[in-house]
Order: sequence, then structure tokens, then C-alpha cells
Amino acid sequence: MMEPKTCSSIILALNLITFFLLPNFAFGTLLSADESYYSRDDFPHDFIFGSATTAYQVEGAANEDGRTPSIWDTFAHDVFEGTENGDVACDGYHKYKEDVKLMVETGLDAYRFSISWSRLIPNGRGPVNPQGLEYYNNLINELISNGIQPHVTLHNFDLPQALDDEYGGWVSSKIVRDFTNYADVCFREFGDRVLYWTTINEPNVFATGGYDTGSTPPRRCSPPFCISTGNKGNSTIEPYLAVHNILLSHSSAARLYKRKYKENQHGFVGISIFTFGCHPIRNTEQDKVACQRAYDHMVGWILEPLVRGDYPVSMKRNAGSRIPVFTSRESEQIKGSADFIGVIHYYNINVTDNSDALNNHMRDFNMDIAAVLNFDLFSNEEIAVTPWKLVEELKKLKLLYGNPPLFIYENGLSLSEMIELHQLHY
Ligand SMILES: *[C@@H]1O[C@H](CO)[C@@H](O)[C@H](O)[C@H]1NC(C)=O
Ligand SMILES: *[C@@H]1O[C@H](CO)[C@@H](O)[C@H](O)[C@H]1NC(C)=O
Repeated sequence: MMEPKTCSSIILALNLITFFLLPNFAFGTLLSADESYYSRDDFPHDFIFGSATTAYQVEGAANEDGRTPSIWDTFAHDVFEGTENGDVACDGYHKYKEDVKLMVETGLDAYRFSISWSRLIPNGRGPVNPQGLEYYNNLINELISNGIQPHVTLHNFDLPQALDDEYGGWVSSKIVRDFTNYADVCFREFGDRVLYWTTINEPNVFATGGYDTGSTPPRRCSPPFCISTGNKGNSTIEPYLAVHNILLSHSSAARLYKRKYKENQHGFVGISIFTFGCHPIRNTEQDKVACQRAYDHMVGWILEPLVRGDYPVSMKRNAGSRIPVFTSRESEQIKGSADFIGVIHYYNINVTDNSDALNNHMRDFNMDIAAVLNFDLFSNEEIAVTPWKLVEELKKLKLLYGNPPLFIYENGLSLSEMIELHQLHY
């Protein structure tokens, strides 16, 4: 999940948040909670270790060389009123060579980062910004020449603000064309060196935070569902619309890649998703079903269309006409359009049934789940720790969604400050 972070925590994340390539993954040989130390020798020889950042968290240079604001810039400046934002961040825009040097010292095989759309194409549409293009070419070349495999995300909560202002960004189907053109530029300019593309990061979290509770960019919601004072929106329908347009945009970009670039570039186009293990609080049938429903709503929401071409049955039942319908053509195009799934996993949720929520005439996405979710985030005081549950989660994804190729793109600990490794007891 993306939260505003200081530079020190980003550096920590660089060290601790690893992702792995799982070509022929042998389950059961990975982590057990009673072991305390692992080395690379515990992993298959072709396991790829990497680390991840996002553009707004590290680049800085927010107003330099032609970049225009994204919805993250607007969010950070509105919510934190100048105290915390990505204007400077880690200054990666100027210090990328030092960063890559640190990656080499850390021993990374791969680096996952995102492109700032509004740096490459200011205002989201139209001519490419030569300085933005140069920056990403330099970064990619620096990685490649140091033997580090780039994994690139195209959208990480940072739509160009201009497109949000113009037509509402992801709630409008106009986004499909603009996103596809942006992806086209990235594939064309960087695809000779980049093989792993993630179209959209965490559409499930982006849509619920951004369009239901209003707690993340673009901060849209409607009362009584707003967590903070969001902008005007419609929590009843917009989370569904946003994901619908995200899936259509993803599949459009993936189709373009297959048609125009795959033959020469041989890369892969996937999507990343926030996942969680689900624990029924009571050992009752209702809570077990509620768990499945929660999983359908958060994970199946994205993966069922990508694997089977339609939203989960429980979602369609509870959201009714508020969830958009795919035409049969769209459904065919979305199905199979992700070459891989980027798994983002930090913790479990505890779930109890709350079917009563369905009696309320006014509902948002969260009420449609008809369950109470307790995020088991801070089970060990400040530190989010159920990393061993990742094994269960991977098995579940394999079982439910037809054994798709997986990258573990984020996992591990959520920390606010630098801490010493010996402080971690798990
Ligand atoms: C949200 O959209 C629905 C469906 O169009 C509409 O019935 C409802 O009044 C809207 N709510 C708000 C707060 O605008
Ligand atoms: C979730 O359930 C686990 C296992 O029963 C428990 O250890 C944990 O404290 C619970 N967390 C919350 C937030 O309820």
C-alpha cells in the first residue's frame, strides 16, 4: 500500500521489501515462523531478489524540467499542507546513479519502479517531454549496465491531475484512450530494455481509497462514507466505475503490446494487486462465507475478470446495477490479458459476517462486502507482521485463479522509522 513516506523509510523499504520471481515455485520450502535466518542458498538459484519504489516517493523534482502535477501531488499538498510531500523526496531524479550504486551494494537482481506519467507526458496527453524521456532512459540504462533487471509500473496512484480535472480521470471511459497512448509511448521508448510491465498498481486499493472513503488520491467520496473531508464524488458507484475503466485500460494496453511490440520485444504485461489472507473470527459458516465474500470483493474484483472475464458472482449480487457490465467483446479481451500478477501482501484480515449491511438502502463498496473487516496490521505493536501468511496466500491464488505466473512485488514489514534488525522478533 502506498503511504506518504519520508526518505529514510524509503531507504529502509529498499532494503527490506523484496520481490521474487517464482518460475517453478516449490511451496512449503519457504518460510516458517520458527526459523530466524535465511540466505540466498535457501532459495532456488533462479530466484530474483529485488526492491521497489514509486515515482512520487523517490523522484522529487516535482516542478522541474516540464513535469506537471499528478493527483498524488495535489493530495499531498492538500492533506499535509506543505509539511510532507514529494516535491524533493529522495531526489532520485538527480541522484539515480547513487541509488543504482546502493542497489548494487545491496545485491539486488531487480528493481521495481514506476514512471511518472505527468513527467513523461505533461498533462497526460500530447507531446512527449524530452527531459522526462531522457531521465527514464538514463535510469534504465544505468540499471541495465549494472546488471539490474527493471520492472516498470505505469500508474501508481499518480494520474496526471489535468486528466482528473478534465473528465474525472478513472471514472470516465475516456481514460482508456489516454492510458493506452501513454503505454504506447513507454513500450516504444523503453521496451527494448524493459521486459516486465505492470499497467496499474493495486487497482483495488486505489479505487476504495480514492473513490469510496476518499482517503487516498484523488480523494473522492460522498457522505456518509468519507473517512476524511474528501472532494465530491459518489462512494456508491465510483469505486466500481474506476476499477471497470482500469480493467479496460489494462486490457487495451496489453492488447496493444501483443499486437505491436511483443514479437520484437518479448516482454510481459501484468497488473499488481493488494492481497491478504482472510481469517474468519468465529468458526461459523457465516464467517467463513463472509471471508470468501471479502476476498471476492477485494481480490476477485480484479482477478476474476482477468482470468474468467467477469466480476465475482457475490459482487454482482450485492452491488446490483451499480457494478458496470462488460460487453461480451470486452469480457473476451480482458480474459487472459495479464501475463502475470504482481502480488502485494503484508498482513491478514479478520472477518466476521455483517449481512445486515445489505438492508441499508444507501450503500458503498465497503457495505456491499457485508462483513466487518479487522486489518491485522499492528498485531506486533507498530510492526505489521504476518509475512509467513504469504505462503498460504500464494497457494490460494494458485488454486483460485488457475496458477497464474506471480511476482511477489511487495511484502514484509510496515515501518514508520528506522529500526535495528535485532528489534524484529518474529
Ligand atoms: C450516486 O449515483 C447514484 C446512481 O447514479 C445516484 O442514485 C446517487 O444519488 C448518487 N449519489 C450522490 C451522493 O451523488
Ligand atoms: C486476528 O486474529 C488473529 C488470530 O486469531 C489474532 O491473533 C489477532 O489478534 C486478530 N487481530 C485483530 C486485529 O483482531
